[in-house]
Amino acid sequence: MDRLLITGGNTLLGEVTISGAKNAALPLMCAALLTDQPLILSNVPELADITTLRNLLEHMGVEINKTEATDAGSKSKLEIRSGASPETTAPYDIVRQMRASILVFGPLLARMGRAKVSLPGGCAIGNRPIDLHIRGLEKLGAKIELEDGYVTATVDGRLKGSHVHMPLVSVGATENILMAASLAKGQTIIDNAAREPEIDDLISCLNKMGARISGKGTERLIIDGVESLSGASHSVIPDRIEAGSYAVAAVITGGSLRLKQISPHMMQASLNALLDMGATVEPEGQDILVSAGSRLGCISLKTQPFPGFATDMQAQFMALASVAEGMSVISETIFENRFMHVPELRRMGAEIAVNGAVASLAGNSKLYGAEVMATDLRASMGLALAALVASGETIISRVYHLDRGYEKLEEKLRAVGASIERIQEQDKPSD
Ligand code: EPZ
Repeated sequence: MDRLLITGGNTLLGEVTISGAKNAALPLMCAALLTDQPLILSNVPELADITTLRNLLEHMGVEINKTEATDAGSKSKLEIRSGASPETTAPYDIVRQMRASILVFGPLLARMGRAKVSLPGGCAIGNRPIDLHIRGLEKLGAKIELEDGYVTATVDGRLKGSHVHMPLVSVGATENILMAASLAKGQTIIDNAAREPEIDDLISCLNKMGARISGKGTERLIIDGVESLSGASHSVIPDRIEAGSYAVAAVITGGSLRLKQISPHMMQASLNALLDMGATVEPEGQDILVSAGSRLGCISLKTQPFPGFATDMQAQFMALASVAEGMSVISETIFENRFMHVPELRRMGAEIAVNGAVASLAGNSKLYGAEVMATDLRASMGLALAALVASGETIISRVYHLDRGYEKLEEKLRAVGASIERIQEQDKPSD
């Protein structure tokens, strides 16, 4: 397993181009199952999770071709063609590698009348059931069966529009139901829908494909189902979590980074938290300049669905708050087990007490390098950020977590002054 060696203490200065959003690209790739025509996506990041979904789609007989960028101004493109009859089973071996595989469920059912997907099983950050996906599709007329670790949905003819009230906000369930309802007969209303920018991006692409969805950006989505969808070309939105992570990197190292091609409204809660802590944030055209202020103050944060403070930024702010002046409090309300980075941060000198879903940080910690272990994608980034400011060397193992969600991480960090190296090893991950 590869490891990262980070020597802390360098001030990060310069600019970082933000990649396309992983969590927007994944549902968009699944949307290609809704049509037999090609869906052309640009700005798709090169990440392990994208490769996993590509493997799943190719396993289903979907053709995917990548066109490389021809000059500096153009972008590489993925052309996805699911053809007349894609395979309708998503097997355990691929689904277990990435939970977002469940996003093939809605589109397959809506277009092929049948979908069989392995239940995703356990996850490091929480239970993450899929009951809301299942209940939503049932509301649209699907017959659901659970057997041998698989969930199978079938429908005679087309799904039927319905009123789906989500008892809690779920990004993935909103996406699955949206895609399915696009091809249903009649109107579907999704109430208490997720409002994440990645949902808006999916709606924009589906509408380009001929779907009739209104209510973008609100908690009520109205979908007038159509009989068929066509191909389209779409550029994936920038990754607000990657941008937020680099914003924290600027501030934690006492530096300044220009985040290129990201709009502040996508990450306002993170930017507000940085401003509250004393950083400066200056939107400039298509970019945002984030710089450390003269002091770094404490913060009180609670994770919430968008537009609230993102759970995917919690670990990064935990690292930042541990070196801030004074006591910070961070509450995690989305996932029940998303404090796995805390024991590792403690090993680097952070003083953090956890009581249920609330972490209290004493602040003013002088972090030092240590050997630490990444547990999930964002936890790993929290450790990398702590390592950037720690004295001495930190070795982060299980780097494959970072490879799932941060494109060219070492390259981007090195370009702005970080000392970071990958120690490559041949062993395969054992978990
Ligand atoms: C998406 O996961 C993201 N993944 C996650 O990003 C992100 O942390 C999460 O949304 C929350 O913002 C992708 O977009 C691919 P949810 P998702 O359904 O859709 C509960 C990252 O690091 N729930 O919004 O799986 C669930 O357990 C990742 O990039 C049910 O109870 O999250 C959680 O408590 C990790 N039943 C809450 O809802 C369901 O059927 C929100 O989860 C579905 C969800």
